Amino acid sequence: MANDPKAPGEGFSHRTLERNVSLLGLLALVAVAIGGIVEIAPLFWIDSTVEKVEGVRPYSPLELAGRNIYMREGCYNCHTQMIRPFRDETERYGHYSLAAESMYDHPFQWGSKRTGPDLARTGGRYSDGWHVQHLKDPRIVVPESIMPPYAFMATRPLVAGDMRDHLKALARVGVPYTPEAIAAANADLAAQANPDADTAALAARYPKAQIRDFDGDPKVVTEMDALIAYLQMLGTLVDFKAAAPQETAQ
Ligand code: HEC
Repeated sequence: MANDPKAPGEGFSHRTLERNVSLLGLLALVAVAIGGIVEIAPLFWIDSTVEKVEGVRPYSPLELAGRNIYMREGCYNCHTQMIRPFRDETERYGHYSLAAESMYDHPFQWGSKRTGPDLARTGGRYSDGWHVQHLKDPRIVVPESIMPPYAFMATRPLVAGDMRDHLKALARVGVPYTPEAIAAANADLAAQANPDADTAALAARYPKAQIRDFDGDPKVVTEMDALIAYLQMLGTLVDFKAAAPQETAQ
């Protein structure tokens, strides 16, 4: 009989498998498990899925306070911080984002919607004065802008809370803040916005940290100071020029 699954001499065939639901289920499970193990098992043996990149460091306390304001105000509703590896994006915004660049972000600010431009490499693109004007009233510098004004930040003193607790919490989820950095967090926050402060330790702890009065009012550390300190460091930690292959001399 042609349809007899156990025709003499045929042995174990696909037909046997397809007619036995339990056997098919069991073997399907085995096949999927092998695929799963191949994908998942290596993750238990490698230290990190994010490749370390030179220059990436945890945020300084002032930058972190600015980042908190960024989240509080919902800037991420209109701005992404993730440059995708497509030509139209890299030509407009710069080198595509690396995973390592947001490895200390809790939570990350990649975003999903761009009403305004991507901000992953906005640091250094404009002067502090431009940011002050733009945040106070975007239409002063970009007449067609639909970004809301945030003028109140220029006069509101920064109330960041105890930054030591903030750094401690981040250290607990893996951000490498040293005990010294945690102990000095509140002093570091004040020092970064004060050009007259002794900032040697701060600069050593946070390489490339920009230390100055950001909002044009050196008397008080405002929310504007913190937010601009954050905006001005975005995308500036990794030196892509040094990493790019050198042009060969002809
Ligand atoms: C309603 C949407 C919206 C919100 C909310 C918003 N922005 Fe914008 N933003 C825009 C638009 C649109 C532009 C482009 C026009 C302009 O430059 O003003 C822009 C531009 C910018 C730029 C200039 C970027 C560049 O490369 O030219 C910066 C910096 C910026 N926004 C920061 C912020 C910050 C910080 C916040 C939160 C305090 C914020 N934005 C909130 C819509 C928004």
